[in-house]
Amino acid sequence: MKFQKKILCIGAGYVGGPSMAMIAHKCPDYRVTVADINHERIDAWNSAELPVYEPGLDDIVKKTRGKNLFFAKDIENQIKENDIIFVCVNTPTKTFGTGAGKAADLQYLEKTARQILQYSQSPKIVIEKSTLPVKTALAMERILSSGKGKITFEVLSNPEFMAEGTAIKDLENPDRVLIGSRETKSGLKARAELVDIYSNWIPQEKIITSNIWSSELSKLVANAFLAQRVSSINSISALCEKADANVAEVARAVGMDSRVGGKFLNAGIGFGGSCFKKDILNLVYLCSYYGLPEVADYWESVVKINEYQQERFIANILGSMFNTLAGKKICILGFAFKADTGDTRESPAIYITRRLLAEHAEVIISDPKALKNAALDLADEEGKIDYIEDAYRAAAGCHALAIMTDWDLYKKLDYKKIFKSMVKPAFLFDGRNILDHKKCFEIGFNVYPIGKPALSHFKTSQES
Ligand code: NAD
Ligand code: UDX
Repeated sequence: MKFQKKILCIGAGYVGGPSMAMIAHKCPDYRVTVADINHERIDAWNSAELPVYEPGLDDIVKKTRGKNLFFAKDIENQIKENDIIFVCVNTPTKTFGTGAGKAADLQYLEKTARQILQYSQSPKIVIEKSTLPVKTALAMERILSSGKGKITFEVLSNPEFMAEGTAIKDLENPDRVLIGSRETKSGLKARAELVDIYSNWIPQEKIITSNIWSSELSKLVANAFLAQRVSSINSISALCEKADANVAEVARAVGMDSRVGGKFLNAGIGFGGSCFKKDILNLVYLCSYYGLPEVADYWESVVKINEYQQERFIANILGSMFNTLAGKKICILGFAFKADTGDTRESPAIYITRRLLAEHAEVIISDPKALKNAALDLADEEGKIDYIEDAYRAAAGCHALAIMTDWDLYKKLDYKKIFKSMVKPAFLFDGRNILDHKKCFEIGFNVYPIGKPALSHFKTSQES
């Protein structure tokens, strides 16, 4: 079959796989290939058990794989054969050298650019889909134009705004698609070609275009704004606990102002995931690099509040359980950084579990999708950890439950049955504020929500 467009994506991760599956699904006349240096990952994409869990993903991969969606290991050949190349490799925080702990590690991106230059035999449109520091396209262009041949490359920026757990919904019906390009004749032509791809299923008014630097920067800023809302409400949760206010009620009252909006105002144990912390720290680094220390400090505080919130959660567990956790069993309900994903990157559960183990608690971890990743994250831990998928079995014999992930499943458990199977006094720390706290208190739990008064059966010192 002759395909209208031949598209390659380099990087078959959480973004490359689902976003390309969506293009293949919506554009049957295009051939879409996703390639990766990680051959195990490619094998998994070609198997019945995909390497990424996302509601709805299996379905569209089943419909397209082998027809117009392919997962491949031969990156060199794929570069030769395709005209449009999305680059969707990882851009983690640098762990070494200048900027360690803040700047983005661009080595995977640069290797990809060099490979594209080396193996290309015809003109290409190269699209940055990875999240990158502003001005990365310039480095990309310089590498791509350093060849001896006459092949032309046009670099575009098309950051991805999907969130994990809702990736398919977000990709199918995004709030917007952003395409940044050079404002030259060839830049505008390449931009039009990418607009053409998305126009297959996305309304014109949602496809926005901009200059290439605005596009690169918008992605970092979008994540910073979202994370800032979470840190703002989490900071207020600390005040609510002191002032006997209820953070959910405050969030509702504030969020009903249409200028503020109600989303992303759920207080909890802090944000996790591979993006928020990494991208804010990258923004902080850029601000410092450009000599804007006040701006850098402002954004860094979003990350600091996030760390503070996790620290507060631990302090609360320790304080309410009589200042000792040694030998006590604590059941962690949920290890994924949010519901509907098996991803545990930067999950607050990792840090909290490590802290509980440092107090010599025994930790029993339960999660419907993330137990494999949890075991990898904690492989170096020497403390006692058990992994039990069934929440009832995991909780039995424990002194405390700590809810870390907002899985729907945890809202529907039979907490009476769980209470009966636990050691008394039984403690419940709801790190996501997803349960009916009054009901749990009436069952017999001592309940500690976030940003709301604790409900405890112990008499205060004034009463006793
Ligand atoms: P990931 O780690 O899941 O996937 C990246 C893949 O790139 C890996 O499989 C890796 O093997 C591959 N890779 C690295 N170097 C390569 C090379 N030279 N050639 C071929 N393959 C190579 O990462 P991800 O979560 O998919 O994120 C990718 C990018 O998208 C990052 O910049 C991230 O910030 C951004 N992003 C992520 C999300 C998200 O929710 N995960 C959302 C929006 C944007
Ligand atoms: C985020 C952005 O939302 C997405 O647009 C971008 O492309 C990638 O980064 P993701 O990290 O997958 O997506 O999930 P998100 O839904 O943003 O949640 C991030 C973290 O914030 C999770 O740990 C979540 O539990 C937490 N969160 C979110 C809260 O604690 N409270 C909220 O109100 C919202």
